[in-house]
Amino acid sequence: MSAALSVEGLTTSLRIDGVWRDAVRDVSFELARGETLALVGESGCGKSLTAMTVMGLLPAGVGRLSAGRIVIDGVETSGLAEAQLEKVRGDAIGMIFQEPMTSLNPVLTVGFQIAESLIQHRGLSRRQARERARELMELVRIPAAAQRLDSYPHQFSGGMRQRVMIALAIACEPKVLIADEPTTALDVTVQAQVLDLLGSLQRDKGLGVLLITHNLGVVATNAQRVMVMYGGDVVESGEVGAFFANPRHPYSRALLAAMPRVDRPTADLSPIPGQVPTLADMPEGCRFQSRCPLREEACARRPPLTPLRDDPRHLTRCVVTAREAS
Ligand SMILES: Nc1ncnc2c1ncn2[C@@H]1O[C@H](COP(=O)(O)OP(=O)(O)OP(=O)(O)O)[C@@H](O)[C@H]1O
Ligand SMILES: [Mg+2]
Repeated sequence: MSAALSVEGLTTSLRIDGVWRDAVRDVSFELARGETLALVGESGCGKSLTAMTVMGLLPAGVGRLSAGRIVIDGVETSGLAEAQLEKVRGDAIGMIFQEPMTSLNPVLTVGFQIAESLIQHRGLSRRQARERARELMELVRIPAAAQRLDSYPHQFSGGMRQRVMIALAIACEPKVLIADEPTTALDVTVQAQVLDLLGSLQRDKGLGVLLITHNLGVVATNAQRVMVMYGGDVVESGEVGAFFANPRHPYSRALLAAMPRVDRPTADLSPIPGQVPTLADMPEGCRFQSRCPLREEACARRPPLTPLRDDPRHLTRCVVTAREAS
């Protein structure tokens, strides 16, 4: 069976002050059905941009796919015209946006919005679509779903609005769901409920989920594989267990060291010194070199993403740590 989503050599460029610069470089991954792949990295590293590129939602004139292939549920979408792309977006892939109001229209009731998607993509009658919208609202555990169909997005709390967005994203039973920081705006209890909900939908429907987060705790409990980005590059990827047990890239190690843990006093947290360089002054070679404690001469050339000798599914874009014995 083909992967739910396959991305090969994806490069996204942004036009900044009239100059096109690569903001996401040569990203490749496969997402299997039923799998959760987490995409992590600090603010501005290119997580949302990767998601928007896969969705075909780059703002025209500002962003473009400069290279690469995107195959969603067996259909190559890179290069499709907008009308065809629109169909794939509703049918095969759904997205929960970092900002809920991006995908919800404030002047339409949520029931209308979910129904509209079902009418357009699944050819349901208005009546069938409304009934299905109610079922979906129940599925995402919105209390009094039948009445809430006629509410507007602003009449929901943050957590409930997030659920409405999930209902909308899964309405047409896509094969792939991209969840961009689906829980960041929520308090911890609601956060856990929303993640549980995603997990159960995934088990029931075999959804492949690309989970974007900067919360490594969420990664440890919800994903099978993880991919770390830094400055638009994937710098490490591997299975979650192997990654947490033996992070390879110096940036991943720094991220983990900066993560609060219950088994370590908070005073030991070490924030990563320095900042991600802006796109205009990204260094040649390894993009992490200016902040890296292990930097050496070879880092002036762009390191390849290299599989570890004893675990070929675990890759690091670092010439120094790729050499280490594990
Ligand atoms: N529309 C845009 N115009 C100009 N620059 C943009 C635009 N969208 C993103 N960028 C830039 O592209 C880079 C990657 O941004 P992106 O939104 O993908 O980051 P992110 O990893 O999702 O961060 P966060 O964790 O804050 O959501 C950043 O340098 C950002 O400033
Ligand atoms: Mg983002």
